[in-house]
Amino acid sequence: MIKLMLLALFATTSLCDETIEFAVVIYRHGDRTPVNPYPTDPWKNESLWPVNFGQLTNIGKKRHYQLGQWFRKRYSHLISKQYNPQEIYVRSTDVDRTLMSAQANLAGMYPPNGTSVWNPDLMWQPIPVHTVPEHDDNILAMKKSCPAYDKEHLKYTHSVEYLNKLHKYDELMHYLSSNTGTKIKSFADILDIYSTLYIEELNNFTLPQWTRSVYPEKMREPAGYSFKTETATPLLARLKVGPLMKIIVTSIQEVISNKTTGKSKKHKKLLIYSAHDLTIGNILNSLDMYDGKCPAFTSTILIELIHDDYTQDYYIRILYRNSTEIIEPSILNIPCCGAKCPFERFKTIYDNLISVKWDYECRQSQFVAILVMSFIVGMGLFATIYMTHKVLFMHWSKEIDPEVEQYDRFVNTHFVTLKVSMDCSFNRDQV
Ligand SMILES: *[C@@H]1O[C@H](CO)[C@@H](O)[C@H](O)[C@H]1NC(C)=O
Ligand SMILES: *[C@@H]1O[C@H](CO)[C@@H](O)[C@H](O)[C@H]1NC(C)=O
Ligand SMILES: *[C@@H]1O[C@H](CO)[C@@H](O)[C@H](O)[C@H]1NC(C)=O
Ligand SMILES: *[C@@H]1O[C@H](CO)[C@@H](O)[C@H](O)[C@H]1NC(C)=O
Ligand SMILES: *[C@@H]1O[C@H](CO)[C@@H](O)[C@H](O)[C@H]1NC(C)=O
Repeated sequence: MIKLMLLALFATTSLCDETIEFAVVIYRHGDRTPVNPYPTDPWKNESLWPVNFGQLTNIGKKRHYQLGQWFRKRYSHLISKQYNPQEIYVRSTDVDRTLMSAQANLAGMYPPNGTSVWNPDLMWQPIPVHTVPEHDDNILAMKKSCPAYDKEHLKYTHSVEYLNKLHKYDELMHYLSSNTGTKIKSFADILDIYSTLYIEELNNFTLPQWTRSVYPEKMREPAGYSFKTETATPLLARLKVGPLMKIIVTSIQEVISNKTTGKSKKHKKLLIYSAHDLTIGNILNSLDMYDGKCPAFTSTILIELIHDDYTQDYYIRILYRNSTEIIEPSILNIPCCGAKCPFERFKTIYDNLISVKWDYECRQSQFVAILVMSFIVGMGLFATIYMTHKVLFMHWSKEIDPEVEQYDRFVNTHFVTLKVSMDCSFNRDQV
């Protein structure tokens, strides 16, 4: 085991007897061109840009390459110099710029050396990047259809809390609507304009006169809010980010049990996820760590499993690098636990996310919707619907797992505890 003396540079507690055993990295893609310029945008002609809309630019490739070199340094004790598929797994959303970012990043992590050189004129080697189509991806793209999520989201965006917050920006949204030629009616709409202006400024395009009074100051805060909307309630967070957190925590659990049962050679050392600003925002907000700032290109969340060599205990540390530059990431404070959180306690704090039974819970509202519809359609169709129900019910009851049968009670208790846990009273005596 290599002792991480380097860690002492940026951590507060004495770390010379700690080892990073496993890490999960989630990053945003590198610099891109605007995805969808607004109708009155003077720079909306695609031929003004070096690459097509929504694509990774050369600067974006370069920054990810450098980030890959930085990962190589930070995790040199975890991953071999030669690519070893048993050590690392890389997954990207199925989008050009995230796939390309992952590849540029891996070029920085795995320059061929010795036997892995296959073309002396090209100091690059292929490394696999896994993906699934976005509409099937509930893990990373978080876009697979989930009726229960949609229902809760609709409820939230019609809530007094949300509408009050949004109405504060009515004047701004009105101003943006009349100047951009498109209706701006949500935080996400404000973010779209904000991102486009940000990228244009970064590329030295002169912004139109009308932007001066609102960009960036007045737009920054509502643009940042858009990263809270998708995970604003415990149920939204559970259904959006639960599947990914469940994989992460399950992997960590396996690493720990593989270590303690002596199968240490076998386990994966590094999981890498290439995704978007929304992914970063959703994860941070679900963990109650989001600072309200739009995640920068290449911003990175690092979730590390730390082994204390003296006490033999395992801890979780979460770091965030919210910059396009290669800087040391900041250690985030895990709510009710601190900078270095015992793994068992970490699981308790985020039980609302990791206990999700996604496929089952997503169908819940579908089931309710079918019931409601059967009332509306009325007695005429009663017989047919009755039969449909019977068939559906038979199908479901076969799969229902006894744990999930308590769904309602479960939702009520767990979702309340998440809220309570944020004032720390719920888990004070847990660890
Ligand atoms: C975009 O710019 C190119 C090159 O200047 C020009 O040929 C083309 O007509 C423009 N397209 C539009 C839609 O204005
Ligand atoms: C390549 O590997 C050799 C030994 O196998 C090592 O001495 C050398 O430093 C490595 N080069 C790079 C660039 O990592
Ligand atoms: C924009 O201008 C700045 C200052 O002149 C320069 O450093 C930067 O490289 C330019 N950016 C692009 C994308 O051309
Ligand atoms: C733990 O060990 C088993 C058996 O060797 C292996 O299949 C599994 O992938 C390991 N788990 C992790 C997270 O590395
Ligand atoms: C980055 O995150 C850290 C920790 O939350 C914070 O202290 C810092 O101000 C942030 N920097 C930027 C540029 O947002």
